[in-house]
Amino acid sequence: MLRDPDRHVMEQAYARWAPIYDALCGPVLLSGRRAAATAAREVGGRILEVGVGTGLSFDDYDATTEITGIDISEPMIARARERIQTGRYPFVKELAVMDAQELTFADASFDCVVGQFVITLVEDPERVLSECVRVLRPGGQIILVNHLYSERGLMAAVERLVAQKARKLGLRPEFPFQRLAAWAQAHGGAELIERRKIKPFGTYTLVRFRRADTHNAVA
Ligand SMILES: C[S@@+](CC[C@H](N)C(=O)[O-])C[C@H]1O[C@@H](n2cnc3c(N)ncnc32)[C@H](O)[C@@H]1O
Repeated sequence: MLRDPDRHVMEQAYARWAPIYDALCGPVLLSGRRAAATAAREVGGRILEVGVGTGLSFDDYDATTEITGIDISEPMIARARERIQTGRYPFVKELAVMDAQELTFADASFDCVVGQFVITLVEDPERVLSECVRVLRPGGQIILVNHLYSERGLMAAVERLVAQKARKLGLRPEFPFQRLAAWAQAHGGAELIERRKIKPFGTYTLVRFRRADTHNAVA
């Protein structure tokens, strides 16, 4: 397995992606985005989107929610800001350039934290997950959607083969589900409550964690 992605490689990659991201990734990631936002709307309330990108997900939320979005990439957030200037998303409360590894929000600030196609791309995924739990109220949920490593068969072999080149493009096809499960077990303050493939193709996996009511977690 390759090392976890370097933050600066990701920043450079997404500065290049920003102008063309919506056209290229919008339709391809649609089923995953919709599934994550639907699950988040069921939790409702104050939602933090980490790695919000250009804000493609805003169309999937409504006025029953209050959205805060953060992203490490200035050019991606600039696109998200342009999107809210249309006035179509009054429920988007704040957008900020921020590293998901060091959230500046107070403990228990959100009802739900959503990460769409981002957890596999950060330098330290376990630290990001621990930060997500910290900013969640007790009983709140983390909702992740991603392509995860196939682990077996031809697809797994292809994913390993392209992993190095994919990294430079800001992609990571070889991130295993087991890593998320192991984090939850070690952390102790979040329980895995769902893992399911998204229809119709099963390319993406939705994973949900619930923050424990009493939190005696390892940071
Ligand atoms: C594949 S894009 C997904 C964007 C958006 N969530 C979507 O589904 O369209 C990954 C995003 O994660 C952001 N990202 C990568 N590392 C990050 C970090 N450490 N903190 C916050 N955002 C990060 C990238 O800048 C990029 O905008």
